[in-house]
Amino acid sequence: MAARKSKQFEWSHKHLLGLRELTAEEISFILDTAVGFEQVSTRSVKKAPPLRGKVVVNLFFEDSTRTRNSFALAAGRLSADIIEFTKKDSSVSKGETLLDTARNLEAMGIDIVVVRHSAGGAPKFLSRNINACVVNAGDGFCEHPTQGLLDVYTIRKIKGTLDGLKIAIVGDVAHSRVARSDMWAMNKLGAEVTFVGPPTLMPARVDELPVKVSYCLDDVIDKVDVINMLRIQFERLGGNPFPSIREYSHYFGLTVERMKRAKSDILVMHPGPINRGLEIESEVADGKNSVILEQVTNGLAVRMAVLFLVNQAAAQGN
Ligand code: NCD
Repeated sequence: MAARKSKQFEWSHKHLLGLRELTAEEISFILDTAVGFEQVSTRSVKKAPPLRGKVVVNLFFEDSTRTRNSFALAAGRLSADIIEFTKKDSSVSKGETLLDTARNLEAMGIDIVVVRHSAGGAPKFLSRNINACVVNAGDGFCEHPTQGLLDVYTIRKIKGTLDGLKIAIVGDVAHSRVARSDMWAMNKLGAEVTFVGPPTLMPARVDELPVKVSYCLDDVIDKVDVINMLRIQFERLGGNPFPSIREYSHYFGLTVERMKRAKSDILVMHPGPINRGLEIESEVADGKNSVILEQVTNGLAVRMAVLFLVNQAAAQGN
């Protein structure tokens, strides 16, 4: 059902570590697969059998609301068993390492590990050291591939294509794994991405990335088809990257006033959690251009597709 393009294209990755290493064709294939899974969530019995008898572990070393629940629901809808693992309630608080934790879980016969970790590269490290499939649910500042996928899925669903679209990603780009995964996916699918924010919140060596850079939201707001507002990652900031929150909101907040200059069909996105009144005004977050809750809904189908595909690749011996 879901893998309807499988005649021309064979998915071969048993891990999803990032979008940087995927081709446009592979990204589109995941999105096409997700389209097939969307209708499972609209049935009265919200279940499909592909992961029956499989065990998925949610291994979250950082807080999460949307991503963790979305993966749990996605795994459940595919009929897998789920183990929920958080740092706080586990032996990690007694000093157990990431690898020992994962190996012990693997000894219980798990099939897929969904991992979120504050250290960039943690999912890759796991993928090299355990046999289970590994899906990255956010590693440090590096990548958050399923968020990138659900973002491009949402845009493609509404706009039809990303090819030729102008997209602004605004705010704390330096500390955002969402910005990086978005950038790779959007760029590969043909969009023109502009990072917008103060120089202190731009990534190092931004000139080597496939993006434009602007330090002025007012220069960009009237030109873009999509705007993705990022949360300031207060938990990752070192020092003071801007003089005050008020000043930040004044220059980089998506306000009702600023929206008056935007295209009438601009899509307003945010990965959540939102700091209302800081990077985005409530009226805009809840306004007619906002697709923030659609992003969350689409995340479910996208994560079902990812779990389905990595499991299929593993079953084929990849
Ligand atoms: C993001 C994350 O954790 O990277 N949230 C999410 O997964 N929806 C973004 C954020 O925390 O700001």
